[in-house]
Amino acid sequence: MFIDFTNLSPRDAYNWMADTITPRPIAWVSTISAEGKHNLAPFSFFNGITGSPPTLMFSAVANRGGIKKDTVRNIEETKEFVVNLVPYALTEQMNACAALLPHGESEFDAFGIASSAATRVKPFLVAEAPVAFECTLHAVVSVGEGGGAASVVFGTIVAAHVKDAILGADGRVDPALLDTVGRLGGENYVSTRDRFVLKRPDRK
Ligand SMILES: Cc1cc2nc3c(=O)[nH]c(=O)nc-3n(C[C@H](O)[C@H](O)[C@H](O)COP(=O)(O)O)c2cc1C
Repeated sequence: MFIDFTNLSPRDAYNWMADTITPRPIAWVSTISAEGKHNLAPFSFFNGITGSPPTLMFSAVANRGGIKKDTVRNIEETKEFVVNLVPYALTEQMNACAALLPHGESEFDAFGIASSAATRVKPFLVAEAPVAFECTLHAVVSVGEGGGAASVVFGTIVAAHVKDAILGADGRVDPALLDTVGRLGGENYVSTRDRFVLKRPDRK
């Protein structure tokens, strides 16, 4: 099958990408508005960028009316956010946060998600997240226009909270204890419970 992306509707293009670019990690992004209202939402167009300086990104697409998501509006207002990783145990709560709530209504309160204070930024941490990255805004890059247009948010990681319970005896993260989930196409997800080790080729 050959797909000519230059003649594809935005919806079909998005679906082909979401169905094939898998598995995707999930950034559960916590933000705060200029008025101090908290917000929490998942984004799977997400990844790390570089350690120099420590940087991550996620992409939020505008709704059909071209209205930016609350997450982006808040980050543009306050220049800060927290990316929480999603453990298997919190999958339901993460998914609930994709619901459309009125601007200013907190998903932490609406879905009973425990929060705790960050150290360098104002948005909350998800208290039970195994890892949470405190970020300051590096840049928002716009791609496209109107409905479906993306705001690609780049953040500088200024601090991370890593639960001691996910560390192995060597002090590094044990993937079995981290136990995160990822996104496949549609309503499908994957867990990291099925893993294997692949030795890296020798480097000269
Ligand atoms: C697992 C998962 C991954 C998602 N990934 C994205 C994404 O990468 N980009 C996006 O724009 N929306 C994504 N969404 C939808 C947003 O979470 C949803 O639009 C949410 O209501 C946005 O919240 P906000 O308006 O409070 O920012 C995803 C939803 C789920 C459940």
